[in-house]
Amino acid sequence: MTEGLTSPVASPEDDRFDRLFRPTSFEEYIGQRNHIENLGVFVEAARRRGEPLDHVLLCGPPGLGKTTLAHILAKEMGVTLHTTSGPAVEHKGALAGLLTKLDRGDVLFIDEIHRLNPAVEESLYPAIEGFEIDVMTGEGPYATTIQLGLKPFCLVGATTRTGLLTAPLLSRFGYVMRLDFYPPEDLMKIVQRSARLLGTKIDDGGTAEIANRARGTPRIANRLLRRVRDFAEVLGSGVIDQEIALTTAQRLDIDGAGLDAMDRRLLSVIIEHYDGGPVGVETLAAALSEPRGTLEDVYEPFLLQQGFLGRTPRGRIATRKAYEHLKQTPPTKDLSSPEEQGGLFS
Ligand code: ADE
Repeated sequence: MTEGLTSPVASPEDDRFDRLFRPTSFEEYIGQRNHIENLGVFVEAARRRGEPLDHVLLCGPPGLGKTTLAHILAKEMGVTLHTTSGPAVEHKGALAGLLTKLDRGDVLFIDEIHRLNPAVEESLYPAIEGFEIDVMTGEGPYATTIQLGLKPFCLVGATTRTGLLTAPLLSRFGYVMRLDFYPPEDLMKIVQRSARLLGTKIDDGGTAEIANRARGTPRIANRLLRRVRDFAEVLGSGVIDQEIALTTAQRLDIDGAGLDAMDRRLLSVIIEHYDGGPVGVETLAAALSEPRGTLEDVYEPFLLQQGFLGRTPRGRIATRKAYEHLKQTPPTKDLSSPEEQGGLFS
């Protein structure tokens, strides 16, 4: 089971602090500058025309700010945000209930939109395309479908991977925004801002140590900041410096590259049990007792981005960087034919 700092699920504690930390305007939002500037233009253009914003899809691993952005979009448009999630919309009637409640221009945020059931998804198409839905009335021989007009609205969908979306749904979004992992400079600004909001003193060394170990993810940076604050208050002077941040990271088993025990276990399994790979994702998931989806959504993206893991048609491989990080000796395979090894080190 995934838990602790890398958990993809926001805990009640995260929710409470998310509300405190969450930026409420484009101006306050740190990082993802290109996307933020583009969204700023689209919002301004829609406002000037007096139209709702075009539908937006936000994708990326958990904790990068998809929900935060949905809140900001609604706020910047000056409209109400209505929030739900794919699995929560159980049938077409529930969707119709949500859609008919929307006022002109409102934002409907559907988190985990790839998990909508197919019948519900299909009934969403005419709603987002022509702002109407088919509603069943009457029963038995008297049952008929009527078209119900909706007020124009903006759908903001969020998903961990675009690959999980059906092509018809994907094609109906006007803007697809892929959130990237945040570089340490951005995470440092986020940590400084959060510490200020918590009323905690933090120096540059402490800020950098937290930022460097947060897997490029603001939610993890904010979780780590709260844990470091605990250690600073109980073991130290209450001020967060590099030493107390380092102590906390060591106690929580997060290494210098920001990898936690599960990240390292994943790489070790490939190296030790599968000779460095390639190994299929299903086999890997079974060996780690983790759902495949969690591996693909939570662990792999960062390991891939950081070059610890490679993906080949035949499965996952541990890279030379992974061997070096785990202080293992890379195999002396014939490096002249990378195809033979499923692209090892290529
Ligand atoms: N808190 C979490 N994510 C943030 C971001 N991108 N900017 C500012 N504060 C944040």
